[in-house]
Amino acid sequence: MKRSLSGIQSSGVLHIGNYFGAIKQFVDHQNSGEYECFYFVADYHSLTTLPPPAEVRENTYNIILDWLACGLDPEKSVIYIQSDIPEHTELTWILSCVTPMGLLERSHSYKDKIAKNILPNAGLFNYPVLMACDILIYDSDVVPVGKDQKQHMEITRDIAMKFNQQYNVEFFKLPEGLILDDVAVVPGIDGQKMSKSYGNTINMFASAKELKKQIMSIVTDSTPLEEPKNPENNISALYKLVASVEKQKALRDKFLAGNFGYGDAKKELLSAMLEYFGEAREKREALARNMDYVRDVLREGGKKARAIAVKKVAEAKEIVGLTGNMYKYFE
Ligand code: ADP
Ligand code: TRP
Repeated sequence: MKRSLSGIQSSGVLHIGNYFGAIKQFVDHQNSGEYECFYFVADYHSLTTLPPPAEVRENTYNIILDWLACGLDPEKSVIYIQSDIPEHTELTWILSCVTPMGLLERSHSYKDKIAKNILPNAGLFNYPVLMACDILIYDSDVVPVGKDQKQHMEITRDIAMKFNQQYNVEFFKLPEGLILDDVAVVPGIDGQKMSKSYGNTINMFASAKELKKQIMSIVTDSTPLEEPKNPENNISALYKLVASVEKQKALRDKFLAGNFGYGDAKKELLSAMLEYFGEAREKREALARNMDYVRDVLREGGKKARAIAVKKVAEAKEIVGLTGNMYKYFE
């Protein structure tokens, strides 16, 4: 069976853009029966921007809760935290030695940071090597990611090829990035791409009050209440994601008829959103009261992932000429 693997950085609270752009695909892969699935929180990656420690931990647990609430099932997917598998960082060193500086210097995300005058640290520079390890250590076949990760996937393949060539082995499998560009970009409350970094998000697990506030802040034009309105607007773009086709048509007709304000439409969006995520919201609340269960899930996931990682790294050590004695004690 093919192996599907992906990670999300623990750098903030997940929003409906992340849900429709990523998590939903993870759940679909898991339930398709076609893949063996590995999903993890990339907490080491989030350290590259030096966030407050309490925030990193809180975001990490929150993402796991979000995933479980949205339908990732520990019986079907291996769910774990990157930093629980020390072999990821161990392999990063080995692979950084076959990675040409130029490959990393060409990284868009690194160049963007420099362009923004952010003083780059070595972690930021090496970010793609760690990501390559996350993927290669499990012999992953496909990696579902957003468009912005396309170059990181190319770098991953380049690093795998470099290693294989350098040591004349076929050791690392070349993974395919499953770029989700057929997934429409979910717009934020200001109409731009929804993103944690733009402060324009709608968070499916926010309190009902906060969710209402976010939805009521969606930017609209100033067409007066009584006049007909363009049915293609920021509200309907989001409504499409969460309402049935009939409901979408009904909303469209109301916009065209006039005497229907954007405020009314936002209320309909709020209730559709609460309905769509209702079950997940309840599940998340129950899970949050049962952190022991969540920690068990992570422990089990970590164990399964680590068993694979330990073996792969021991083999890599042997290939490059390290003695690898320690591995023998684990057998
Ligand atoms: P953010 O832009 O909020 O920081 P990330 O870059 O951490 O989000 O993205 C995590 C995943 O969610 C990626 O696979 C990305 O493609 C997807 N994603 C993020 N924002 C959107 C959006 N507005 N529409 C669709 N997918 C998105
Ligand atoms: N760089 C990815 C992002 O920002 C997160 C990530 C880290 C990842 N390691 C990965 C994604 C391995 C897929 C596979 O979204």
